[in-house]
Amino acid sequence: MILIVASQKGGAGKSTTATNLAAEFARLGRDVVLVDADAQRSAARWHADREAASIVPVIACVEKAGNIRTTLLDLDGRYEIVVVDVAGRDSAEMRTGMTAAHKLIVTVRPSQFDLDTLPHMQALIDQARDFNPDLEVRSLLTQVPTHAVASERTDAGEYLADYPELKPLQTVIYERKAYRDVIGEGLGVVEWNNPKAKAEIQELVAELMA
Ligand SMILES: Nc1ncnc2c1ncn2[C@@H]1O[C@H](COP(=O)(O)OP(=O)(O)O)[C@@H](O)[C@H]1O
Ligand SMILES: [Mg+2]
Repeated sequence: MILIVASQKGGAGKSTTATNLAAEFARLGRDVVLVDADAQRSAARWHADREAASIVPVIACVEKAGNIRTTLLDLDGRYEIVVVDVAGRDSAEMRTGMTAAHKLIVTVRPSQFDLDTLPHMQALIDQARDFNPDLEVRSLLTQVPTHAVASERTDAGEYLADYPELKPLQTVIYERKAYRDVIGEGLGVVEWNNPKAKAEIQELVAELMA
C-alpha cells in the first residue's frame, strides 16, 4: 500500500506525519519503507539520525526526486507499506506520487492560509484521478492548538466540508512539543514519553488501516 502525505504549504506537518507513521508501522512489525521525495530532506535526516543512534526497529528509507511513480510502484511490490513525504508545493514529486498512491493524506493546519490552498489541491486530485481513479483522499488536521477554543477546529472542519473529496480523518493531530522533540532523535512519538501524542498517531494508523 502506497500512502502519500502532501499539502501545498511548507510547515503543514507532512514530514512529521510521514516519519511518525513510519515509526508506528515499524513498531507494529509492519514491513515499511519511508520515501523522502522532498529536496529539503527532512525525513531523510530524521532517518539518518535514527540510524546513527542505532534505533530499532530499523526502518528502510529511499530518497527520490522528479518522477517518483515507477519507484513507488516498484517499492510497493517489495514492501507492505510505502510512506511518501513530498515537498510543500505543487511539484513533480507530488503529482507523479499521486498517480501511484493508494491513499493521499492532505495535511491542513486550521488556519485560513492552509485552507486557502484546498481549491488547488482539489484540482490536482482531479488530475491524478485521470491516471489513478481509485486514489483515496483524506484530510488530516494537524498542529491544532490544544488551548484553542473548540471553534477553531470546528471552523476548519466546516470549511473542509465544502470539499467532499477531502473528507477529514476523525483523528486530529494537536500541537504538542513531543512532535518537535522526537524529530532530532530519529524517533516517533510512539517511542516517546507523551501518551497523548502517542495515542494520536496510533489512532491515525488504526483509522488508515480500517
Ligand atoms: N503536531 C505538531 N505539534 C508541534 N509541532 C509540530 C507538529 N507538527 C509539526 N510540527 C513542527 O512544525 C514544523 C513543520 O513541520 P513539518 O512536519 O516539517 O512540516 P512540512 O513537512 O509540511 O513542511 C516542524 O518544526 C515540526 O517539528
Ligand atoms: Mg517536510
